[in-house]
Amino acid sequence: MKTRVTELLGIEYPIIQGGLAYLAYADLAAAVSNAGGLGQITAMSLPSPEALRAEIQRVKQMTTRPFSVNFAIGQHGRPYEEMVKVAIEEGVKIVSVTGGNPKPFFDMLKGTNIKKLVLVAATRQAQKAEELGADAVMVVGQEGGGHLGRDDIGTFVLVPQVVRSVQIPVIASGGIVDGLGLVAALALGAEGIEMGTRFIATKECVHAHPVYKEAIIKAKETDTVIIKRSLGTPARALKNPITDRILSLEAEEAGYEGLKEYISGETNRKLIHEGKWDEGFGWAGQGVGLIEDIPSVKELFEHILSDVERAYQRLNRIKLGY
Ligand SMILES: Cc1cc2nc3c(=O)[nH]c(=O)nc-3n(C[C@H](O)[C@H](O)[C@H](O)COP(=O)(O)O)c2cc1C
Repeated sequence: MKTRVTELLGIEYPIIQGGLAYLAYADLAAAVSNAGGLGQITAMSLPSPEALRAEIQRVKQMTTRPFSVNFAIGQHGRPYEEMVKVAIEEGVKIVSVTGGNPKPFFDMLKGTNIKKLVLVAATRQAQKAEELGADAVMVVGQEGGGHLGRDDIGTFVLVPQVVRSVQIPVIASGGIVDGLGLVAALALGAEGIEMGTRFIATKECVHAHPVYKEAIIKAKETDTVIIKRSLGTPARALKNPITDRILSLEAEEAGYEGLKEYISGETNRKLIHEGKWDEGFGWAGQGVGLIEDIPSVKELFEHILSDVERAYQRLNRIKLGY
C-alpha cells in the first residue's frame, strides 16, 4: 500500500500505533514496526530522559525499521526539553506531538531532518500545525480513546474537513480498529490511520493488565464515557465505578481539587497495570464494541490486510452492480 504517509515515514502499511500513556513501550512499538506499520514509544510515560534513552535503545535492538517517539507535551506541565534532546542524540527519525502548541517543540528540532507528526482534534489545530511545519497531521475524532477535542466532532466529519483544509497528508484516528476502517479512512481522503485502543488488546502490549484487555474485548460500543469535560480536557474511558464517581463529582461541580485523586496517572495505572477494576480507570475508544480478540500484532496486521481485500472486493461488486 502506497500513500504519501508510507513514503514520508518509510513504512509498508499506512498504519500508525498511537502514543499510549503508560502502555507504549519498546515491545509494542517494535512489534508494530516489524509488522510494517509505525510503532511509537511514549516519552512522557518514562520517568527520566535517561529512561527514554534506554527505551529507544531497546526499540533499536528489536527492530531495524522506522519507529517514532511520542510527546504529550501538555501532560501535567512536565518538562520535555531534555527528552527531546535525548531523542535527537539517539538519532530518532520520527516524532509525534500532542496536547499543546507545537511551536517550542518544533523549534528544538530545527536543523534536524526529523519528521514531525502532530495529533490534533480540530480543523484549526491542523491548519496551525501545517503552518508551523508539521510533515503530517493525525486527526482524532470523538470516537477515540484518551484525550479528545472539545467540539465533539466524529471522525467521519472531521477527517474530510481537515483533508480539505491542509495540503500535508492526513492520518485518520478515532474509532478505527480494522481494515474496513482503514479503507473508509482512505475513502475520506486520509492517507493513513492511527489506532490506539486496538493495539492495547494485543499480545505485545505487555504493560496492559489482562483485566484491562478483557474489559476492552467484552465492552460494547456503548460502554465508554467521556470524563474531565468540566475541566476542559475531555477524554474517553471505559465506563466503570471510578468513571461513575468522576462523572457524579463533575455534575456536582467538584472542580480540579475535588477530582484530582480520581483522575490522576496513579489512579489510571491501578486499572491498566494492576488490574484493579474498582480502583482505577482505563482510556478506551468506542471501537471497543468491534474488538473481540487479543491477537499478536503480526496476526492483527494479517486480519487488517484481509479485511482490506474484502472491503475492496465489496466496493468493486457494488461498483459493477452485482
Ligand atoms: C490508553 C490510551 C492512552 C493514550 N495516550 C496518548 C499519549 O500519551 N499520547 C498521544 O499522542 N495520544 C495518546 N492517546 C491517543 C491515541 O494516540 C489515539 O489518538 C487514540 O487512541 C485514537 O482513538 P482509538 O483509541 O479509537 O484508536 C491515548 C489513547 C489511549 C486509548
